[in-house]
Amino acid sequence: MTDEEVLYQTKDGVATITINRPTKYNALSIDVVTTLRQFMKQAETSPDVRTVVLTGAGEKAFSAGADISEFKDRDSKTIRPLTENGQELCKYIESMSKPVIACINGHALGGGCEVAMACDIRYASSNAKFGQPEINLGIMPGYGGTVRLPRIVGLGAAKEIVFSGDPILAQEALRIGLVNRVFDSVEALRTATTELAVKLSKKSGAAIKLIKKSMNNAWIMPSDKHLALEVNLFCESFGTEDKKEGVAAFLEKREAKFKHR
Ligand code: COA
Repeated sequence: MTDEEVLYQTKDGVATITINRPTKYNALSIDVVTTLRQFMKQAETSPDVRTVVLTGAGEKAFSAGADISEFKDRDSKTIRPLTENGQELCKYIESMSKPVIACINGHALGGGCEVAMACDIRYASSNAKFGQPEINLGIMPGYGGTVRLPRIVGLGAAKEIVFSGDPILAQEALRIGLVNRVFDSVEALRTATTELAVKLSKKSGAAIKLIKKSMNNAWIMPSDKHLALEVNLFCESFGTEDKKEGVAAFLEKREAKFKHR
């Protein structure tokens, strides 16, 4: 793989990571997945980066999923590193302390849909199509689709999507809560995503880290334990420089300038 199959750019506190194989509908080869994880780590550890945008190159696809050409000669044993690699990427995105926005500029199928579901916020263009078409290959989702999709859209809707393999159009994805917003064109999508990313970059990074830590447990922890965790994280937020600045700025009627610690 050439480095150019995944692009990394930063501007105004936002790292934009672009899957750049437009002629292959931005299919996720093993190398692309590995590089995506490296770039996610780079964004996570760069102090200047506050928000991450993940998108696909061109106007046709965010990503049409795992690279099917890598499936042909694999069996139950040799496929394992591929699915584990994809799951590691998705888990890493979820675990990041910074917001990750999926900017979905076309097809988000299979692993493409699964990676988008690991992101915190999903914005899409009206030409976007979502789905888990693995059933049509005689296999099943393996980057977390059977786990995250039901949590996002509910078990019944998720089973219909995964059993049928049918694509879901952007407006239907909006209706079932798979995406946060839909925009008329890819250009409008990119503009709105950048606006949101720049806005989030100015919020307290210290608070976002704690908020993500709590909210990511929404599907996992029993609510009494989760509420107790929220108490602890809320108290922790009172020990940050950002809390001092945020409260002082409010009382002094000025805009807060957060240092993200
Ligand atoms: N893996 C590898 N290559 C892929 C791919 C994938 N997941 N998705 C698309 N491509 C490639 C095609 O092989 C084709 O390459 P070629 O021009 O060298 O032949 C190119 O991208 C364009 O795809 P094509 O099928 O000709 O375009 P289309 O507009 O008719 O259909 C899709 C687009 C996305 C609907 C169709 O390509 C598709 O169904 N892809 C597979 C989706 C999938 O099953 N994903 C889950 C994988 S587990």
